[in-house]
Amino acid sequence: MFSTRIAGTGSYLPERILSNFDLEKLVDTNDQWIRERTGIERRHIAAPGEATSDLALKASQRALEAAGLKAADLDMIIFATITGDQLMPATACFLQEKLGCKSIPAFDLAAACSGFIYGLTVADQFIRTGMHKNILVVGAEVLHNFINYKDRETCILFGDASGAFVVSRAEAGDKNVIMSSHLHAEGSLAELLVVNGVGSKKPLSPETFGSEDSYVKMKGREIYKNAVRVMSQCAQQALEHNKVKIDEVSWLVPHQANTRIMEAVANHFNFPQERVINIVSEMGNTSSATVPVAFDTAVRDGRIQRGQIILFTVFGAGLTSGSMLLRY
Ligand code: UT7
Repeated sequence: MFSTRIAGTGSYLPERILSNFDLEKLVDTNDQWIRERTGIERRHIAAPGEATSDLALKASQRALEAAGLKAADLDMIIFATITGDQLMPATACFLQEKLGCKSIPAFDLAAACSGFIYGLTVADQFIRTGMHKNILVVGAEVLHNFINYKDRETCILFGDASGAFVVSRAEAGDKNVIMSSHLHAEGSLAELLVVNGVGSKKPLSPETFGSEDSYVKMKGREIYKNAVRVMSQCAQQALEHNKVKIDEVSWLVPHQANTRIMEAVANHFNFPQERVINIVSEMGNTSSATVPVAFDTAVRDGRIQRGQIILFTVFGAGLTSGSMLLRY
């Protein structure tokens, strides 16, 4: 069996910004409430016509450049998203065309905010078995089209972004590799976070179009409690599996949904808050993009260094969850 290393990372945030003050003009909310309850100050919103694959292209090009690879070197594209360009075909195929790497397999993976760790885990399996050498894993979302800007409980949370990792077969003896991943889902909690008006159960119709059913609906308190529970459990599982103590972890990179959720997970382990990568103030919750964007930001600003142990822990609609431990 081979091992998988993170060869390069990239991210992209659209230029347009929606601040808490902008939201004050749309719904009955205020900057102080949003900052205190979520830690979010602004989100980035894709321009009209800017699709998920466009965002993904920019992050992917940056990841390829950081890896010192060309699109032609890629063996596969795994695209984690719940807001693809269109229902069919997979957004991964549009990205493949835009990158110009013809004929390699390309598919979407829908695990909501856990999607990127699901995608990395799938890529890791293909590399471990020797089937592929270089895989592009993307997490990208244009969520704002699915947000009801009349619903103050959801519209304050979400933004658009893309992040990408190029993962590659490690040289024999390389210690900077993915150490483990653990994935879970609890379908019994699926109703807590949904967009239920666009699909086979309720096909798009004049009744559903533009109704509440076309937007994200969420039971916030329930999601909050379950998020703290499952992210702590998944992180614990990663540590126990590898017999690694929490003090050996250099950086915790949790799903960026809400600062209070991240703080609660870190407190569960008595882990110092200053070693949690938290950029939610800058971008809100961008679902599958949060982990790769947070990680890439911290790599580029010099916080995350080669050789350090990194712990990812995530949750999302489904209710999906997962963790990954790696030495970068
Ligand atoms: O990737 C997963 C995506 N989802 C999440 O991560 C969501 C997880 N949940 C959360 O982050 C939090 O539950 C929220 C930020 C959504 C809400 O914070 P909370 O501390 O759980 O507030 P709450 O829902 O208990 O509401 C407290 C009060 C309520 O008013 P009353 O009933 O006490 O009078 C709400 O109506 O705050 C009110 N409220 C707001 N006030 C101002 C709810 N949303 C807002 C708002 N601005 N945007």
